[in-house]
Amino acid sequence: MIGDKKVLYSAMQATGVLHIGNYFGALQNWVNLSEEYECFYAVADLHALTIRRDPAELRKSTRNVLMMYIAAGLDPEKNCVYYQSSVPAHAELAWIMNCFTYLGELNRMTQFKDKSAKHSDNINAGLLTYPVLMACDILLYQADVVPVGLDQKQHLELTRDIAERFNAIYGDVFTIPEPYIGTTGARVMSLADPTKKMSKSDENQNSVVYVLDDKDTIIRKFKRAITDSDTRIIYSEDKPGIMNLMDIYGAATGKTNEEIEREFDGKGYGDFKLAVGETVADVLAPIKERFEQLSKDKAYVDSVIKNNTEKASYFAEKTLRKVQKKVGLPERIR
Ligand code: TRP
Repeated sequence: MIGDKKVLYSAMQATGVLHIGNYFGALQNWVNLSEEYECFYAVADLHALTIRRDPAELRKSTRNVLMMYIAAGLDPEKNCVYYQSSVPAHAELAWIMNCFTYLGELNRMTQFKDKSAKHSDNINAGLLTYPVLMACDILLYQADVVPVGLDQKQHLELTRDIAERFNAIYGDVFTIPEPYIGTTGARVMSLADPTKKMSKSDENQNSVVYVLDDKDTIIRKFKRAITDSDTRIIYSEDKPGIMNLMDIYGAATGKTNEEIEREFDGKGYGDFKLAVGETVADVLAPIKERFEQLSKDKAYVDSVIKNNTEKASYFAEKTLRKVQKKVGLPERIR
């Protein structure tokens, strides 16, 4: 708790430009949570190093993701948006917590197995200990709730296990975080293959809609979306393409599946795809505009980053000092 509010923590990796999966799946919801919780949202730039990155590109991506947080509507006066690497407590706690995490636990993580298979030429130790750093992100702020997608649930469970293990030895040092239950956002699938998650690394760039795409591009991509040979707009497991478009349209408008089905009753896929494209473009337009303004206002963005880094450091260091003391490290004399 900070004041009378529960603490909410989440982060995104600094992976270049964001697409509508990032927006409808996470960011849009984050914006809705900011009144109820004391929120911390990091750009996980240290996590990004587990895969070889071009330095200039990583630096740019990290800043872009942070500007995107603000452009999407996270008020940086109320939400602590910051760079993970700018708060050294993350890396410091990670070392300590590495010593409280078992190799067996890390080897079991499905994301580690997937990423090792995908990057077999660079299975570095960071890829293995990735979830420990993520646990430290969360634990440093004594977070009560963490909104995460399905693919991160196992990491959150590990976070709870590590924290409980530590608390069992040293007393109640860490708050045990809960997954955020509630609308966690739409799971947005590829427009070219609705059985796969939308991904910026997809070879077919028509399958990905970026938050910064212009209106014509967005509409064109939706027009080409793969559907099926039926004609009805109904939400059904055997129509994954239509399900995906309905999920996206629902996320963009707040309409339920029933409302969408009624709205497009008797209309064809062409009409529906156009409506989805136009609606998504309208939702994204002000975000794109705000992002472009922020890109030009270096002084403002820098001041936001400075203030929020200080705020994050204050809370993170409080926890770190407590942990250092508990495990027996000497008091820091400066
Ligand atoms: N690993 C998360 C992802 O890829 C990003 C992340 C880093 C995160 N630290 C976190 C998410 C802490 C929630 C809480 O999506």
